[in-house]
Amino acid sequence: MISGILFDMDGVLIDSEAYIAQAAVSFFADLGVKVKEEDFQPFVGAGEDRYIGGVAEKYGLPLDLVQAKDAVYRKYRQLVLGKVGPMPGVSRFIANARNAGMRMAVASSADRTKVEINLKAIGASPDWFDIVLSGSQVKRKKPFPDIYQFAALSLGLSCEDCLVVEDAVNGVQAAKAAGCFCCGVTGTFDAETLARAGADVVVTSLDAFSDFSTRDELNSQLADFASSATGTTVYGAVRIRGRESRFSDGFLLAQAKEAAKKARENAYAPYSGFKVGAAVVSAATGRIYCGCNVENSSFGATICAERNAILNAIAEEGAIGVDLLVVVSDDAPPAPPCAQCLQVLAEFSRAETEIHLVDLAGRDDVYRFDEMLPHPFIFPSVR
Ligand code: THU
Repeated sequence: MISGILFDMDGVLIDSEAYIAQAAVSFFADLGVKVKEEDFQPFVGAGEDRYIGGVAEKYGLPLDLVQAKDAVYRKYRQLVLGKVGPMPGVSRFIANARNAGMRMAVASSADRTKVEINLKAIGASPDWFDIVLSGSQVKRKKPFPDIYQFAALSLGLSCEDCLVVEDAVNGVQAAKAAGCFCCGVTGTFDAETLARAGADVVVTSLDAFSDFSTRDELNSQLADFASSATGTTVYGAVRIRGRESRFSDGFLLAQAKEAAKKARENAYAPYSGFKVGAAVVSAATGRIYCGCNVENSSFGATICAERNAILNAIAEEGAIGVDLLVVVSDDAPPAPPCAQCLQVLAEFSRAETEIHLVDLAGRDDVYRFDEMLPHPFIFPSVR
């Protein structure tokens, strides 16, 4: 249950990215160096040391960062104070959250000076936030999770009970690394980029939330956003972030066949003498995970190649979606996965997951997953 809200500041509460970029470009221009606003993009959300220092490095310019930031902030103050207000929906969302008894914090990677200019610019009243954290309060900046962990701790909450509102890739990564629920706000980055970075839901502004007066109401809005979030695909019992992907990478298929053949060579099959190799491919990770059959003196304890492969995949990545399975055996026709393996694979596979049954001479019989197992059992509560 979300009980706390941790706000990033720039690009979430105040539309400042263009102004800090303008101030920084003007600062570099004063030194006779012509930089572009795009030069700052990789450093957005990582704090001003990286924001200014990163671009200075790119242009080979030695800088005293303290003096440089001072000069940039002076320009920034003039650009925003009295001219830039809160972003759409911010004041209403915060008022709703206050009424609902949410605890709230600002957790910005920016320096204190900039945070204070911003709070003044958006007219934040002292009761808006229980705590305001700036970049200097943690050693490791976003994308490290530290500032969000510190903010949650300061509110007396665990990270999983906190909603982070973020506009930048670095910030979304920090929020997810901390274990928070993350709402991305588009503007600095587009929805797809934020979702790929790990945002659980993405909105165009806080105006996307309707009025709420209890925690339950906010939580149910978040659940609705999450369930209708685009960019996730259902694989059996798991949802995988990423657009719907039909697997069609010929190069990866060839590699997966090679990998499965190689895994087959390691099969431990002294009882049956029947060696099997398998390779599972996930479109989301673009990686191949292998397995071979491993028999046992107690025959029933034997594990098949296909289950070995999917278990290896999960050990490496957590729950993945299977887009392709290759099974290599020396049989005619090449052996299909057994029913037990199909049921295990069904947990992570789609109806259209490709299954290639391959023999040592290169015969390749292609099936869809639902041809092999048309009616998998998926536990009702996760369907
Ligand atoms: N085997 C597999 O590895 N995959 C299958 O789909 C069918 C059977 C293995 C298990 C055992 O080691 C041997 O083949 C004979 O059943």
